[in-house]
Amino acid sequence: MSRILITSALPYINGIKHLGTLAGSMLPADVYARFQRARGRETLYICATDEHGTPTELAAAEAGLDPASFCAEQHEVQHRLGRQFGLSWDHFGRSSSPQNHRLTQRFAQQLWEAGFIEERVTQQVYSNADKRFLPDRYVIGTCPHCGYESARGDQCENCTRVLDPADLLHPRSAVSGSTDIEIRGSKHLFLRQSLFSDKLRSWIESKRGNWPLLVTSIALKWLDEGLQDRGITRDLEWGVPVNAFEWGRNPEGQTPDIDGLAGKVFYVWYDAPIEYIGATWEWADARAQEAGTGPAAEADWERWWRQPQAADVKYVQFMGKDNVPFHTVGFPCTLMGVNEKVDAKGHWSVVNNAPWKLVDELKGFNWLDYYGGKFSTSQKRGVFMDHALELLPPDYWRWWIMANAPETSDATFGWEQFQAQVNADLADVLGNFVNRICKFTETRFEGIVPEGGAPGALDEKLEADVLAKLREYTEFMEDREYRKSAAALRQLWVLGNQYLTEAAPWTAIKTDRDRAAVAVRYGLNLAALFAKVSEPFIPFACEKISEALGEPFPATWPSLDGQGVLSALPPGRTIRAPEVLFKKVENEQVAEWRERFGGPEAETA
Ligand code: MF3
Ligand code: ZN
Repeated sequence: MSRILITSALPYINGIKHLGTLAGSMLPADVYARFQRARGRETLYICATDEHGTPTELAAAEAGLDPASFCAEQHEVQHRLGRQFGLSWDHFGRSSSPQNHRLTQRFAQQLWEAGFIEERVTQQVYSNADKRFLPDRYVIGTCPHCGYESARGDQCENCTRVLDPADLLHPRSAVSGSTDIEIRGSKHLFLRQSLFSDKLRSWIESKRGNWPLLVTSIALKWLDEGLQDRGITRDLEWGVPVNAFEWGRNPEGQTPDIDGLAGKVFYVWYDAPIEYIGATWEWADARAQEAGTGPAAEADWERWWRQPQAADVKYVQFMGKDNVPFHTVGFPCTLMGVNEKVDAKGHWSVVNNAPWKLVDELKGFNWLDYYGGKFSTSQKRGVFMDHALELLPPDYWRWWIMANAPETSDATFGWEQFQAQVNADLADVLGNFVNRICKFTETRFEGIVPEGGAPGALDEKLEADVLAKLREYTEFMEDREYRKSAAALRQLWVLGNQYLTEAAPWTAIKTDRDRAAVAVRYGLNLAALFAKVSEPFIPFACEKISEALGEPFPATWPSLDGQGVLSALPPGRTIRAPEVLFKKVENEQVAEWRERFGGPEAETA
């Protein structure tokens, strides 16, 4: 029995997330976490807000707040919305936490002392009016290739050419519009990723055929193009400060340029993945606080992350495809680097006998589009978490998103298809089934799970079919194949409806009460089973069904050994019909929502 560690890509702090973000990281991670807990495995699902970087500074300024207050506020909003969506994080942390500061700095120190960090002077754009260095994308000017006047310093949106801010004609600051800008040299730290090419390649090769093709091909493409050393510091105020004054000598005997690095912070993509570990530390601290035992011991959180204690941990990451390079190259370089050391002659040696764990399973997703175009935070195009919850309960979204997960290709959201699918699957199939059988029990069996009668061929066949489908479903869930899982689950629900139609207890009761009793008992047990195994996808409805049937929630996964998969409910127990589980989505609603959020015509907007 192994422990399961789950992380989903950390959502940026600025802005409420849209359904596309949910689809590519947090929701599949949650479904997997719920499934593994139901299977009885010790599971830890960690997520956090990704809080540093220039976009945060600018968004805070726009909101009239300092970055710390802005982040504190936005973190609460995202935390609340995530909980309302049923995301069952064991901890939802913050990349600005003291724990992450300490880890980020500690790792950098170790990487420096091991010879994996190098100092370089880079030429940066400095804005005199804004009194700050400007990241490439915050320098705007005319594209030298196509003449587009609002080209960004990293890339021209019009002709897609990659640019350097120095290429731009008439450059100006995107922050203030000022043209009073100049190029200045600035000292920065670079992680020597190029040294890790061979190690990374053999690691990725070992995952081929096991990880999704999407993931290994993105990773190998990066390696094929040749790994670049990467700047891991920035001239910004908001972030984890570079603490070079604490560092010792590198293998070549040099100490870092403390003055040259003063006032700088680590690059957001360097500190953000470290927060997976930081948030685990936060989680352990929070638990220790609750228990009144003060800050956690290192062992409490390191047992999930460091060998040999973590030997029984299976670590699974969830993310959209744009995040794959940072998780197959950037973060692994950090973790591999703190385990080893490279001397001046280029010889490697192991320095850490409690190495950090790398990811075991990496689930990457394509995009979820809105009517074939992009969900866009800046253009407010598509459906965002807060609005989604105003329209419908979370289960509708959870179900549709996972049943259409963008696994092997991009998927697209459209109101009409959404309506058709949730109405068919949730209202007509599952909701209708549970409602029919519970209502019938109330009216004809006084709301009591009936005794009596002996199962016949139809009931035995049902049990065999259900068991076979359940095994298939469980296997897809273990493999994190969401479309297939959702399809198998739907087929399970359909078996219930078919059974009721054939067994027809409403007809049987007229002539053979025992026969009707068997059908009702099987029907109610099906409902109880559905509540157990649908919980990862639609936890809110499953809780209602479980309550109505007097069953525990959250449940344990049924045994697949063939013993009594349909006999959880003791005859004689009183049950009741749950309130309506899924109201149908009506045409008028769809018309209204299309109007409000934009339909296919919004694509070109
Ligand atoms: N914030 C990034 C995004 O939304 C993801 C960061 S994942 C992390 O694309 F591991 F680096 F935190
Ligand atoms: Zn151009």
